[in-house]
Formats: sequence, structure tokens, C-alpha cells
Amino acid sequence: MKAAIAGASGYSGEELVRLLLRHPRAELAAVTSRQYAGQSLARVFPKFGNDPRAKTLCFTEPDPELLAKTADVVFLALPHGVAAGYAAPLLHLGCQVIDLSADFRLKSPARYKEFYGKDHPAPDLLSKAVYGLPEARRAEIKNASLIASPGCYPTSILLPLLPLLKTGLIQSAGIIADSLSGLSGAGRKAELDYLFVECNESARPYGIPKHRHLSEIEEQLTLAADRPVVIQFSPHLIPLNRGILTTLYLAPAKPFQNESQMAAFGDQITRCFQAAYAGEPFVRLLEAPALPDTKNVAGTNVIEIAWRLDPRTGRLIVLSALDNITKGASGQAVQSMNILRGFAETDGLC
Ligand SMILES: NC(=O)c1ccc[n+]([C@@H]2O[C@H](COP(=O)([O-])OP(=O)(O)OC[C@H]3O[C@@H](n4cnc5c(N)ncnc54)[C@H](OP(=O)(O)O)[C@@H]3O)[C@@H](O)[C@H]2O)c1
Repeated sequence: MKAAIAGASGYSGEELVRLLLRHPRAELAAVTSRQYAGQSLARVFPKFGNDPRAKTLCFTEPDPELLAKTADVVFLALPHGVAAGYAAPLLHLGCQVIDLSADFRLKSPARYKEFYGKDHPAPDLLSKAVYGLPEARRAEIKNASLIASPGCYPTSILLPLLPLLKTGLIQSAGIIADSLSGLSGAGRKAELDYLFVECNESARPYGIPKHRHLSEIEEQLTLAADRPVVIQFSPHLIPLNRGILTTLYLAPAKPFQNESQMAAFGDQITRCFQAAYAGEPFVRLLEAPALPDTKNVAGTNVIEIAWRLDPRTGRLIVLSALDNITKGASGQAVQSMNILRGFAETDGLC
């Protein structure tokens, strides 16, 4: 199977290159970048210099017809708003498309406009797209032609929350999510806010109270809970290259009044997470005293999840850690490709 990456010179594109060069069942057949067109992968990314394929494969201008001639599956690692313009012709030319941008993650063009500030560039395709969260939508991904790979913050919030909402163990109102993100989440671009001196020794919130990712988070939570879910979400930038740590503050559906009720609720939470994820290769459920740590997932497709009950506040606290570029973007997209093409889900990812 031949794969191509549009936008291979960005952070998620580079991670796709790393994963696809070593993939046992996929051949990396094309990579695009406007600024590096004509240069080899090995020249632009010296870290791949020992790979024979990286020495010969050169970046090309992003041209859907050329991509469709070269590849069966095309990954779009492009900015939102740009990706949709490539998805439509690629689908028309018979490719399977895995989009890492936000262009196809929402079902409603109006909601896209509300959060992304412009009309959706290809509204007709929204109903065709499958939200590519493998642990939640494996069967749909298998039959998709257009996969909308979830955002990094959404993955860190949805994987812990979906089973809890589906089983009705927590209240769907009043959910609070605090997330800390490394700087690669902002993309590989030169902007004042992301210069080393601005970010090093700094931790700062942004996008409060209405970050764009709320749109897909709330859409997916609403589907899981079968009622409208609105959450409070506070993202922060921290001086880390890659990684997201999320803390969720949740109210049990039935408040616990004493220690034995708390212990019984704790057993239900454990059973809920085990039922959802015990067999999942990329979800690591941590047992106390362990807590999630971005350094334990960096460069991997794994999300770590742990939880605690607070007897003083009556809250359930759930924590997760993932690599925003791998499980939060490119690793998850390759996981979806594996499902789509009938490969082992772990191919190229372990
Ligand atoms: N970074 C993350 O943690 C992360 C996580 C999940 C999802 N995502 C999503 O994945 C997508 C890519 O993110 P990224 O962080 O990898 O971005 P990035 O580092 O800024 O890279 C963007 C890529 O797109 C190309 N590009 C930019 N504008 C283009 C245009 N108008 N036409 C064609 N190519 C264009 C760039 O190459 P040239 O300029 O050389 O053409 C580059 O290869 C975004 O939609 C982002 O929201 C990112």
C-alpha cells in the first residue's frame, strides 16, 4: 500500500514521515511541501538520513492529481481551511483521505463557522467523514473513505471521559478540563508568541474561555451522553517540546456520602475503564500510586489515564497524558490507516 503526506514538512507531517518510513505494510510514496519542493527528505530532516528511502524521496509541490497517481492513502497534515481543498479532489480521484486538520471533525457547517470564523470550505463532505478516534469508532473507520483525525486536546479529554459518560457514572454538567500543552502543538512556524525566549521559563493560558477544540469535544461528549454537554476548558502552553497533560474535574452521578459508598463508586470507575480499555494496545490505565507523565508517553502512541476520588470535595479527578504529535495527531492517524487497510492496529506503532 502506498501512502502520501501533504504537508510533510510540519511537525505532524514529520512525525508521519518517521512512522511511515518504518511501517511494515505501507510504502511512503510522496511528501509535499511548498518551501522544500525538490529537496530530499534526508536533506530537510537529517535525522532520517540513514534511511535509503529518505535519500531518494523528494518533496513535491502539493498537487492532488500527482498525489492520487502515486498513493492509495493520503494524509493531510495541512492547516485547517487548506486541508478541505485537497480532500475533495483526492476523494474524487479515488484516494482514501486521513485529515489531521479540523476541517472534517464537526458535523455542522454552522458550528465550524462559529469556532473557525469562516464558512466551511467543503460542507458537502461533512456527512461523509468519520471521526477517527480508533478506540471509540473502530467499525466506522474500517469502512471510511474520509477520516477526520481528532485534535490533540480532544483526544486527551475524550478518551478518559467517553466511557464515564456512556455508563452514566458522572454528571454531564459542570465538567472542567485543564490541559497543559507543549509548544509543538502550535505548529512549525515562526511567530513571536512561540519564540524560545517568549516560551522558556513561562506557563500561560490561552484560548479561554472558548478554544476551537471545544467544538469537537462537546460534539463527541454530547453523542456519548445522549444529551447536550457543555464543558469548561482551559488550555495552557508550557515549555515542553511535545506532550499534553489533562486534568478533569468531575461530579459523580450519585454523590457519595461516606467511605463505603466512595469505595463502591471507585470499584465502578475501575470496572468502567477496564471494560472500555483493558484490551486496547494504546491506552495505559495506571494503578495508584502512578500518575500520568508526559515523559512516559513522548514519541509513543500511548495515552496514560489515572483517576482519584477526593473525599473532601466529593469529586472524581481523572488525568491523562499523551504526545500531541503522536497519539494526538500522526500516530493516531496511522492507527486509523491500519484499521482502514485491515493491517494489525499496532503495525508501525510499537
Ligand atoms: N501540531 C500538533 O500537535 C497537532 C496535533 C493534532 C492536529 N494537528 C493539526 O494538523 C495539521 C498540521 O499541523 P502541524 O502542527 O503539523 O502544522 P505545521 O507544523 O504548521 O505544518 C503545516 C504543513 O502544511 C504545509 N502548508 C502550510 N500552508 C499550506 C498551504 N496553503 N498549502 C499547502 N501546504 C501548506 C506546510 O509546508 P509548506 O509551507 O512548505 O507548504 C507544512 O508542511 C493542522 O491542521 C493542525 O491543527 C496538529
